[in-house]
Amino acid sequence: MYKYATLNPIAQVGLDVLTDEYVKTEDVNEAQAILVRSASMHDMELSANLECVARAGAGVNNIPLDKCAEQGVVVFNTPGANANGVKELVMAGMLLACRDIYGGMQWVEENKTDADINKTMEKAKKNFAGSEVKGKKLGVIGLGAIGVLVANMANRMGMQVFGVDPYLSVVNAVTLNRDVTILKSYDELYKTCDFITIHVPLLESTKGMLNKDAFDKMKEGTVVLNFSRDTLVNDDDMGEALKSGKVAKYVTDFPNAKVLTFPNVIATPHLGASTEESEDNCAMMAAEEIRAFLEDGNIINSVNMPNCDAGKCDSAARITIIHKNKPNMIAQFTQLFAKDNVNIAHLTDKSRGDYAYSVIDIDAVSTQKVVDELTAIDGVVKVRVIK
Ligand code: MLT
Repeated sequence: MYKYATLNPIAQVGLDVLTDEYVKTEDVNEAQAILVRSASMHDMELSANLECVARAGAGVNNIPLDKCAEQGVVVFNTPGANANGVKELVMAGMLLACRDIYGGMQWVEENKTDADINKTMEKAKKNFAGSEVKGKKLGVIGLGAIGVLVANMANRMGMQVFGVDPYLSVVNAVTLNRDVTILKSYDELYKTCDFITIHVPLLESTKGMLNKDAFDKMKEGTVVLNFSRDTLVNDDDMGEALKSGKVAKYVTDFPNAKVLTFPNVIATPHLGASTEESEDNCAMMAAEEIRAFLEDGNIINSVNMPNCDAGKCDSAARITIIHKNKPNMIAQFTQLFAKDNVNIAHLTDKSRGDYAYSVIDIDAVSTQKVVDELTAIDGVVKVRVIK
């Protein structure tokens, strides 16, 4: 029996993926798996029972990834699962920036008791006129799952689309419409585009990347869209850019008290992935990742450990080891089994940065003695017997 805890409401279709072998606990310290959306885990103690955290969503800035890795806790996210929901809101954000739909709706609301509104509106409408996105230039910063969908949709709406992504994956490159022009630098994108939308994770290296330096390079009257994270944009610099007209509109799904004092801000309350479909997709993907890891030791979509697919175990036992990525680790593991005359049927080892992960299938039942000996090896973080 596996125990899991949820730190936010998680869609039932996702919880249904967890079979009768899973039981929900209200005591997070008992849980082997945690499902989380945006609740902050930064001040949480991680219990020794905890094996994995699955973030039902893309952003993982609410999870202490390094602390988790140090304690052998694998963190997953659900890339792409909510990408369509975010893409649709980005398109809506672009349209809201071009057409004064909101101003027009407010006018209708204020004049709803006017018996002749069908006539007066024909005069009033000039106050809410706008422009079209067709033919305009859109720059997409970050061509991950969301950025690619935004780029392709904008292309279908007749925009000229440009993108920059130093880490563009093969899968995303193949999915990207051939009409999208990939630029080599952010500077080229800034000076070319009428609309700029940012779709990168919040990391130390991306924090505040849309700042004075970037705004200075943009065209006069650029529309900036941020459906990723608040601090990717330097608020003070954005305020100055909005006041000077360098940025004509700032469309953000991550408003804060300061940003809301600026002119020409169009803000929504983190609604990007808040659709039934996105919440269902994220919950199901997160639950499947937990099952793959707890039941078979396989790691899919981890953000702090290497991905690793060793399939199902058809040997007598499977042992998994999270360890430091340094020389002589695997040799020590295999020597330990050799000493006990235990045959290794399969061995998979993957590394990522400072950490590595080994899945070892053996032709003998595992014993506590083996686990203790493996755990005692310098550089081993966590040993788990899967079967
Ligand atoms: C994400 O990071 O996936 C989105 O911002 C949605 C969310 O936080 O749930």
